[in-house]
Amino acid sequence: MHTPPSRPHLSRRSFLKLLAAGGATAAGGYVLYETAPWLNYDQQVASLQRTIDVGAPGPAHLRELVRAATLAANGHNTQPWRFALTNDTITIRPDAARRLAVVDPHDRELWISLGCALENLLVAARALGYAPEVTYPESVDAIAVRLAPGSAQAGPLPAAIPLRQNTRSLYDGRPIPMADLDQVQTLPLEPGVVLQVLTSAAERETVLEYVTRGNLQQYADKAFVAELIAWLRFNKREALATLDGLYTRCAGKPEVPRWLGQRFVAGTQPQQQADADAAKLRSAPAVAVIASTTDDRVAWVRTGQVYERLALTTTALNIRSALLNQPVEVAVLRAQFQQALGLRETLPQLVIRMGYAGAMPRSPRRPVAQVLAEAGAPA
Ligand SMILES: Cc1cc2nc3c(=O)[nH]c(=O)nc-3n(C[C@H](O)[C@H](O)[C@H](O)COP(=O)(O)O)c2cc1C
Repeated sequence: MHTPPSRPHLSRRSFLKLLAAGGATAAGGYVLYETAPWLNYDQQVASLQRTIDVGAPGPAHLRELVRAATLAANGHNTQPWRFALTNDTITIRPDAARRLAVVDPHDRELWISLGCALENLLVAARALGYAPEVTYPESVDAIAVRLAPGSAQAGPLPAAIPLRQNTRSLYDGRPIPMADLDQVQTLPLEPGVVLQVLTSAAERETVLEYVTRGNLQQYADKAFVAELIAWLRFNKREALATLDGLYTRCAGKPEVPRWLGQRFVAGTQPQQQADADAAKLRSAPAVAVIASTTDDRVAWVRTGQVYERLALTTTALNIRSALLNQPVEVAVLRAQFQQALGLRETLPQLVIRMGYAGAMPRSPRRPVAQVLAEAGAPA
């Protein structure tokens, strides 16, 4: 899953033409952005991502917990989940219509995404005074969370839920203080999940080698690029129309019409994408790798939980993070990557860079009403 690429491979003449057209359209888009109050993206997204409301009484709690869950990290921002509510239980199920058949053919990242949502839900539930009990998807295709009564837990993580983001910009290279790295390294884990934090230049270069090889393979694959384009939102109008997908502005790109954005992405040379990600990885003083002892639904959910926990913890410490998961997504690279990192018998699941940078625009989310099982297709 990917940062929207920067520039395509085109002949010099067509590139200049495209640039002129793109410049004009981008300028037009910018004017529209500034002058169209009915398209106020930031305001709409901020209202979906407000602070978790610990005061919301009774049944409103359940909807607030679902909202917290939807703010989690998830592959291509497909938001591949549906939630069903009963009196005291929230069930999370995959939304098959939002699968990523090319980049995630075995639903590995889909279940990791559900694990991320689960972790946000649990953090928010404990802040609201519940002692949540989880049933993992061992025999059924669902995660159930029963909200048993408990006592409200304080701490910095609930406030980090609406602030966490996958920050795709270049980081400023500043090292992370030891005390903060220690907090990341000693994060409570889940059974069967391990975390490695790599800070030496040599270790990070090893990771880079596999991110590069992954990019070269993925961007040479037409099906991968087509799936990516289907989930890219090239301007505010598109992002607001669906409230899902990868809004290119969140990765620092200008607003462009779909026809132009599509051409840019389809024309991306694999090496250009690899170079852009290499610079991003080198700007990060630390890299985390999450691995698991098995490769099944429960392990994926628990991996997602550990990742979201890490992302909330780093957010609370003002450390930015972003996933660069190419070494795991490209099947032929995964085992080599595992060996290169000395992960022994544990299987790599997620690769994360960490460092310092300003905030990027927030990525869109669908409102709770759109993800409740009652609201649409049967869950
Ligand atoms: C399993 C998984 C894999 C991901 N892989 C990548 C990746 O390789 N590159 C990337 O830029 N983002 C990756 N992401 C981040 C998502 O694109 C991001 O969470 C989503 O767009 C929502 O944005 P937000 O996290 O800022 O709210 C991944 C997320 C998950 C859960």
